[in-house]
Amino acid sequence: MVSGLRRDSLSEDFAVYFRDLGKAIGGESRLVPLPRTLEGHFTKAVQVRPEIAAKVRATLSNVIVERLDPPAQFDAVIVTNVFVYFGRAELALALANIQGMLKPGGYLLHNELRPEVEELGRYVGLVPVQARTIQVSAGGARTPLLDAFVIQQRR
Ligand SMILES: C[S@@+](CC[C@H](N)C(=O)[O-])C[C@H]1O[C@@H](n2cnc3c(N)ncnc32)[C@H](O)[C@@H]1O
Repeated sequence: MVSGLRRDSLSEDFAVYFRDLGKAIGGESRLVPLPRTLEGHFTKAVQVRPEIAAKVRATLSNVIVERLDPPAQFDAVIVTNVFVYFGRAELALALANIQGMLKPGGYLLHNELRPEVEELGRYVGLVPVQARTIQVSAGGARTPLLDAFVIQQRR
């Protein structure tokens, strides 16, 4: 787990969050040597406990043109830094497919604030719950580092 964020640009809150990140699923590990270029950044390697790793399955899927087979009934789908690459048609297809992967009442969490995502989401039954811009870092002398989150819920 490597973050591109520098230690000197973030709040104490983030330092505490990053220190504890991964504790619920494993322990910090020195197994992965990290490049020297990352000195001064938040970096960490976590060795995931075997019983947790055994519960995780991965699969490749193109969210624009594929649905999972057998169909998934997820409680939540998290999509970060992906929708930004999609135009309107791709977004509509991806949202319809994600809606099909969620249980009724399940949540889609993403970080794309484009109004189209809300508009198209409503068409497929993903209603907006919350959306915010968040300041990740003050940025020091540089521009503040901003991100966003959006929560939509399957009807
Ligand atoms: C900038 S990376 C973001 C990775 C990670 N989610 C994050 O926030 O760090 C963009 C990711 O979108 C995935 N992606 C792009 N088009 C996709 C599609 N049609 N279906 C599924 N994944 C796609 C790419 O494979 C890549 O992993």
